[in-house]
Amino acid sequence: MQRLARVGRRLGWWGLAGWALMVLAACSGAGLGAATPTEASPEMLFVQGRCGACHIIPGVAQATGTVGPPLCEVTYAYARGELTVEDIMADIAQPNRRVHEGYLDKIMPDDYTERFDQQALRRMAEYLTRLPCPQPTQAPATTPSSTEGGAS
Ligand code: HEC
Repeated sequence: MQRLARVGRRLGWWGLAGWALMVLAACSGAGLGAATPTEASPEMLFVQGRCGACHIIPGVAQATGTVGPPLCEVTYAYARGELTVEDIMADIAQPNRRVHEGYLDKIMPDDYTERFDQQALRRMAEYLTRLPCPQPTQAPATTPSSTEGGAS
């Protein structure tokens, strides 16, 4: 009897340990650890980077944050010819090099180059150039000469 109880207790411990391991694995999988971004869709990259906690990004689940500018502004600026894909990559990699007017400096994490490789950064930047944004109220993309004083 006593022996059985001991075995049972040990099994319980192992069961618990196994469960804890699984939880740990699941957590790190959902976090930055899982960045093998070459195959991930751009949407998944934004989810992994938690960009949506601070930015509204159409097409990305739960990307409704308002701490940073809505990323459609990037799409519009690109359409107006004011940004290149490389500029956008740099904005993600070194967020403090150019601070978006009206928003706080040093809020956006500056370690994305450690979490994403260049290819992943490029895919995110390219995705931002073609977000399914509502039609901008001013400065339509087809007439870049009329963008003076446009939203920025
Ligand atoms: C903790 C909040 C936070 C997170 C997370 C965050 N950002 Fe930002 N982001 C900001 C803020 C605040 C700004 C505006 C200040 C600045 O330009 O540095 C900004 C600016 C930007 C800009 C420049 C926009 C412009 O029009 O100048 C881009 C592009 C951008 N973020 C993309 C991303 C991407 C992509 C991710 C995820 C990989 C991300 N951000 C994650 C807060 C965040």
